[in-house]
Amino acid sequence: MRDSFGREIRYLRLSITDRCNLRCRYCMPDEGVPPTAHDDLLRYEELLRVAAAAVSLGIDRFKVTGGEPLVRRDCTDFIRALKALPGVKQVTLTTNGLLLPPLLDELCAAGLDGVNISLDTLDNAQYQRLTRRARTADEVLDAVRLCAARLPTKINAVLLPETADQMIPLAELTQTLSVDVRFIERMPLGAAQTDQMASADHALARLRVRWPQLEPITEPRGNGPARYFHAPALRGCIGMIDAVSHSFCDRCNRLRLTCTGLLKPCLCYDEGVELRPLLRGGADDETLRDAIRAAILQKPAAHCFQQRENITEHKSMNQIGG
Ligand code: GTP
Ligand code: 5AD
Ligand code: SF4
Repeated sequence: MRDSFGREIRYLRLSITDRCNLRCRYCMPDEGVPPTAHDDLLRYEELLRVAAAAVSLGIDRFKVTGGEPLVRRDCTDFIRALKALPGVKQVTLTTNGLLLPPLLDELCAAGLDGVNISLDTLDNAQYQRLTRRARTADEVLDAVRLCAARLPTKINAVLLPETADQMIPLAELTQTLSVDVRFIERMPLGAAQTDQMASADHALARLRVRWPQLEPITEPRGNGPARYFHAPALRGCIGMIDAVSHSFCDRCNRLRLTCTGLLKPCLCYDEGVELRPLLRGGADDETLRDAIRAAILQKPAAHCFQQRENITEHKSMNQIGG
């Protein structure tokens, strides 16, 4: 289905939990976020009902997010059921990777189509400072290696002033591993309210010094907002997700569902359609479809990250799903 600006909406991000085994500084506030009561979370059957209704409106790609999606029990069963829904073309996962290795076989068997793994630094001490937990970048890297051998894998690195020296080593991973490495401008949501922003253009200029032959790729890659570049020495691509300095909203193709059932037309505004009362109030499929249509038609032309006073979304990223 098209939104009121003519954009084809075919991708839905499903946040299945706001819990996480890390506390990344740009994602969660210092004091943490009170976890959602179990009863307030959409149950897997409810998520599948929303997904089936979305498919009937032309949405055929799903991204499972969190918090950290793999902390929710039976996440793999959910992914299997989602992928098995008639009309679903693609199911991918965005994860911090720490719980991934023991689940990888099951996830592959469930039909998962790809994994994005968050890793902002290769320095273990810095990883612990950034994530406020005792896990290590090496553990994540082990998960990346295992995953890259089985599934299309991307590394997501949020650009931070303190990790500037990590950018080239992170990008170099794609010289030896079959992964895309993507650099993301930190969006000023939730815990990430800061004036210091490392820009993607600056990052790209530095990458071009390292790989002078880095060129934008012309064929479409992925579903999302990343711009991709390639150089002959690289096995995968380097991507830039520059939501703040450039807007890719004219190509926006997505909705997001929070773990409590708010269907959000855009990342940056606290607006949307509450699906949980419908799901639990006996609404029929047509009513559910109408609610999804309403969220699509509510999609704004663009975000307002450049005019921060207009941002109305005050939830943190773990509550939105990225
Ligand atoms: P692929 O389909 O695998 O390319 O995934 P993706 O890039 O859409 O999703 P992922 O979960 O890996 O998110 C990467 C970064 O892009 C995160 O920082 C997200 O918050 C951000 N992002 C994803 N979708 C949007 C969007 O519609 N708008 C904005 N501003 N940022 C987005
Ligand atoms: N800006 C940009 N990306 C963010 N993420 C979390 N918080 C932010 C933010 N403020 C990223 C995570 C993960 C993805 C789902 O969103 O690093 O890769
Ligand atoms: Fe779409 Fe909003 Fe993201 Fe822009 S910021 S691409 S409109 S969800």
